[in-house]
Amino acid sequence: MDAASIRLSVAPMMDWTDSHCRVFHRLLAPHARLYSEMVHANAVIHGDRDRLLAMDPVEHPVALQLGGSEPALLAQAARIGAERGFDEINLNCGCPSDRVQAGRFGACLMREPALVAASVAAMIESVQASAHPVAVTVKCRLGVDDDHDWDRFLGFVDTVAAAGCALFVVHARNAWLKGLSPKENREVPPLRYEWAYRLKRERPRLQVVVNGGIASLPEAVGHLAHADGAMLGRAAYHDPYLLHRLDATLHDTPERPRPDLLRALRPYVEAQLARGVPLRHITRHLLGLFHAQPGGRVFRQVLGEGVHRPGADWSLVERALAATASTAELAA
Ligand SMILES: Cc1cc2nc3c(=O)[nH]c(=O)nc-3n(C[C@H](O)[C@H](O)[C@H](O)COP(=O)(O)O)c2cc1C
Repeated sequence: MDAASIRLSVAPMMDWTDSHCRVFHRLLAPHARLYSEMVHANAVIHGDRDRLLAMDPVEHPVALQLGGSEPALLAQAARIGAERGFDEINLNCGCPSDRVQAGRFGACLMREPALVAASVAAMIESVQASAHPVAVTVKCRLGVDDDHDWDRFLGFVDTVAAAGCALFVVHARNAWLKGLSPKENREVPPLRYEWAYRLKRERPRLQVVVNGGIASLPEAVGHLAHADGAMLGRAAYHDPYLLHRLDATLHDTPERPRPDLLRALRPYVEAQLARGVPLRHITRHLLGLFHAQPGGRVFRQVLGEGVHRPGADWSLVERALAATASTAELAA
């Protein structure tokens, strides 16, 4: 995969990284790689594709993340995703939720490298035969429960790489499958970036993207000295201007003020409103734009409250911007 396009990415996040969110992130970070929420292969095949695979052309490069563990179904879903125009198909081997464990996919696949390899091989074959052959990648953890065996982790990667996967997103901690909620599983098992770095050192031909707990510009840039990319999840969502600063730093472009970035979203918002999409479906992703800034709380308040009134439209966003600016002026 083109090295520049994987240096910065935004993590797949269920309920968060829908198409509206990704369009906003694209405006902030023109060069970042964006990931969809996880969609189960069965849902891709049998569900409402227009909704589940919604994607706006401005989102590229954008990856579809799939969940599942049946090679034939994953192959079919991967092909559908590629033909819909996604630029990468990513297989989830990191999600620890009970629902996912019951379905035998997500993080528990770390214990089934042969099955993941068979899935990846089937997905690659199917995508290659499509009109839009794209890369198939994997997002994984370091291990599950108390596996702390480097050779087991490397064995997983080697087995899957031999099937044709050349890029691994490594959420650099274990998943504890018993006793922790998915939220706790993003916080409690300790981060061990050193394993992701070591993977890059020992397998330099693979592309390794580090994920987990990256919350600032220097941290993200620091990871790039040891790996091919940094993937941000929660920090990007809660503080989206960080994404903008990172993209500007990595590509040596000037930073733009928050209101300018937001106003660039106006044509998209108005087109969505005209299609009957409620404003709140989009504005919920914007609330963190003034994170830790004077007026940031007012921005969230005005937007969060006004959006439930009938007929809420772009003028509400302008009101939120004006209230934020006057609060910031008073604070100055
Ligand atoms: C609300 C939420 C939903 C998530 N959904 C997914 C998902 O669908 N697929 C996935 O691989 N990881 C998912 N994750 C995990 C993130 O992709 C990422 O690995 C994790 O949050 C650690 O990165 P961070 O510390 O930068 O947030 C989710 C995380 C959050 C907070």
